[in-house]
This record gives sequence, C-alpha cells and structure tokens, in this order.
Amino acid sequence: MTLQQLITERKAKVGIIGLGYVGLPLMRAFFKAGYPVIGYDVDPAKIEKIHKGENYLKHLGEDFIAEMSQADSFDATADFDRLGEADALLLCVPTPLGKHLEPDLSYVEVTTEAIAKTLRKGQLVVLESTTYPGTTRQVMQPVLEKTGLKCGEDFFLAYSPEREDPGRKNFNTQTIPKLVGGIGEEAGKMALELYAAAVSKAIPVSSAEVAESAKLLENIYRSVNIALVNEMKVVLDAMGIDIWEVVDAAATKPFGFQAFYPGPGLGGHCIPIDPYYLTWKAREVGHTTRFIELAGEVNHAMPDYVVNKTMLALNKNKKAVAASRILVLGLAYKPNVDDIRESPSFEIIEKLQELGGDVYYNDPHVPATHKMREYDLQMESVELTADTIKQYDCVVIATNHEAYDWQMIADNAQLVIDSRGALREVTGKRDHIVNA
Ligand SMILES: NC(=O)c1ccc[n+]([C@@H]2O[C@H](COP(=O)([O-])OP(=O)(O)OC[C@H]3O[C@@H](n4cnc5c(N)ncnc54)[C@H](O)[C@@H]3O)[C@@H](O)[C@H]2O)c1
Repeated sequence: MTLQQLITERKAKVGIIGLGYVGLPLMRAFFKAGYPVIGYDVDPAKIEKIHKGENYLKHLGEDFIAEMSQADSFDATADFDRLGEADALLLCVPTPLGKHLEPDLSYVEVTTEAIAKTLRKGQLVVLESTTYPGTTRQVMQPVLEKTGLKCGEDFFLAYSPEREDPGRKNFNTQTIPKLVGGIGEEAGKMALELYAAAVSKAIPVSSAEVAESAKLLENIYRSVNIALVNEMKVVLDAMGIDIWEVVDAAATKPFGFQAFYPGPGLGGHCIPIDPYYLTWKAREVGHTTRFIELAGEVNHAMPDYVVNKTMLALNKNKKAVAASRILVLGLAYKPNVDDIRESPSFEIIEKLQELGGDVYYNDPHVPATHKMREYDLQMESVELTADTIKQYDCVVIATNHEAYDWQMIADNAQLVIDSRGALREVTGKRDHIVNA
C-alpha cells in the first residue's frame, strides 16, 4: 500500500517522538482518530508509566492514557531502532535556548540522525517543535538524504507547528487549527491529509518555512503585547491607576484591540524562548529584531519589579526583607497547571532569599521542587490555611490558580503583593493589598 492509501484508510502507523506537553496529547488525537500509534521517548520512566496506563501530566486528567494503553493499536517504546515501524513520524522534542540565547537544536538533530538510521521509502517525517525558518529544509533534509533516499520522491518531509496551550479549557489538540507546510508539494499534501483526519481543521501553507515563521510570529506577538501591557502597568501604577481596570475597559472595543494582561514575568517553554530563535537567524540576513529584544528586556525586568514592590511594602510596615517570613503563592508559570519551566516564581524566590528573606511557597499543583537547569531550590509546598497564612509578614501572589480562595487569603494575610490582579474581586479591607 502507498503512504497515501495508508493515510486515507487510517492504516498509517503514526509515531510520535517526544511524549511531553505536546507529544502526549497529539498521540491521543491520532489514536482517537482511529490510527495505530506508537510513542517514542528517551525517558524510560515515561514509557513505563504509559504502559501502566498512568498519566504523568496532571492537567490532562487521570484517565488520559488508560484507554489508549489497553488498545492493540497502541504501543510506546524507548527503543529508537523501532523508528522504522511508523509510516509517519512526528517530532515533538524540546527546542530550548543555549546559555547565550542561541537556538539549541541538539534534540532535533539527534532525533533526525536516529530517524535516518531506519528511514525507508514511503515514510513521512514532520517536525512540530518550534524553531527558526529553514530548520526543516536546512537542518533535517540533508541528514535524511545522506541515506541516499530522496526527499519528495522516496520519503516526505514537512513542518506543522504545535499550538498546544496546556490548561486551556475551550480548545484542545483536536480543535486547535493546524498549519501544515511541506518540503515540496507532495509532502505538504500528504501531511495535510494526515492531520486533517485527526484535528478539526488543517490549513495548508506553501512551504515549511511559512509554517515555521507563522508559529514564531504568533509567539512574538504574544511576547511583544505582554511587554506592552507590563510597561503600561509600571507607568500607570506610578500614577495610581489600576492596569487591570484599564485593560478591561479597553477590551470593550469590539475591534482593533486584543486584551493581554500584566504579570510577574514570562514563563513556559514557548514565549520566553521562541522569539530569540528568530533573533539569531535574522543576523544571518543582516537584520536585528528590535521588537523582540525590547519585549524581552521589559518582560525580564518584571520579577525584579515584583521583588522591589515587596521590599517597599514591607518597609512601609517597618520591616526588612531580611527579617521577614514571605510566602510565594504559585510556582507554576500559569494557572491550573504544574508546568514550572522558566517560571518567574523561581527568580522571585531566589531574589528574596538573596536579600535574606525566609521564603516559602505554596502551589497545589507542585508539591515539591526538583533540580532544573538554572535552579535547585529544594523546597516543598507549605500548607495554606487561614491560620498558617497569618504567620507570614507578606504573601506574594505569583500565579492565580483557580484552587486558591482569594477572599480567605485577603482576609488573613498581613500584607499581599498581587502580581496577577487576583484580589480584584475580594471585599473588605484593601489597604494591605499592593499591586505589582
Ligand atoms: N508546551 C507547550 O505548550 C508548547 C506549545 C507549542 C509548541 N511547543 C513546542 O513543542 C516542542 C516540545 O515541547 P514540550 O512542551 O512538549 O516539551 P516537553 O519537555 O514536555 O516534552 C519533550 C519530550 O521529549 C522527550 N525527549 C527529549 N529528547 C528526546 C529525544 N532525543 N528523542 C525522543 N524524545 C526526547 C523528553 O523526555 C520529553 O518527554 C518544543 O519545541 C516547544 O517549543 C510547546
């Protein structure tokens, strides 16, 4: 059977490489669409959990893997010699930044080398990881063609950016429209048909580069607009104007404005990282990306802004950070998930500790910290009750998880620094609440 027939008849075996925030839901989308699926990950602990039907990504719900793990049409493995089994291979591996904000494509490269070892005629390879324009053609294609097989004739190569937003309730992998751009017309067509069978809308674009660039534009747009509203926050706060009320007011305009909200800084594996992929690539064509770098500068200053506000508010209460017990609420970078990657909470905690503060954290989704690239806080989430909260000189709201009882927090805290507008609706006394 040709790849085309396998896709049309839902017999193509879909292999997902990298079973994290992106890969795991994607695997289930193809499973639900009736395709046989096989998941690959370098982490044997994840593979073991999958086989036992255990979900390691809490926000997806406990049963997310259970049904899939029982099915004959499903498998998961850490054995990369089995990459040849799949008819279509979708890469969802990390694309982080190096120390000097340069793209780290090592995961994409290693995975492509592994695919090349078992590449066979009729296989479709699609990169989903966020990256700079040209990665699919310039980095992946030559490695795959070293096998002697020809792209567009023997095998097919495409790019389809992942737009997953973990924790979002109104959209999921199946309902978020998917862009697809091929290296050559055939690859684009093949990948489009495959995705169209698993997601509600697959949109073709003329090349892999267009799809790669569109994904970057989406994330740069977010980074720039978040920076804009963070800058407005600082300015309006100095004027005694509430940024949250201002954004809501502006958002009543039915066109030409989209609401973005201020916060304690950027987090996650996308917005703080992806824009710099373009900054790096732009230098190759003699250009700078001033919007990206300015937005980065403004957003990166936010944890310091929150710490400074905390210092000043404690000072007003005749206290020093060095003599204070401080509770940070929320370690995850956004509400209702356990994702702590690049979370500004870590920088806030570390800075307060450097100033001598006795710092604690509570996060209902993150019971303890683990060693990360830049941080090893070795902390555990403390209990949060009306009684315990009274014992802190100051509470810093870093993440607005729905699980928090804001009224209880406002009623019992001595002083609250609110970087999320979380206490806007609480009633009663407010003079101990400071926006940051
Ligand atoms: N998290 C998001 O919300 C999101 C949204 C859109 C796009 N993306 C992009 O998707 C990509 C993946 O992000 P993620 O959040 O799923 O990352 P993740 O860290 O949650 O998952 C990556 C997975 O890949 C595995 N892995 C690492 N090296 C591997 C290798 N060589 N072979 C196979 N597996 C390997 C890891 O063990 C992990 O399970 C990134 O490029 C990211 O920018 C992420």
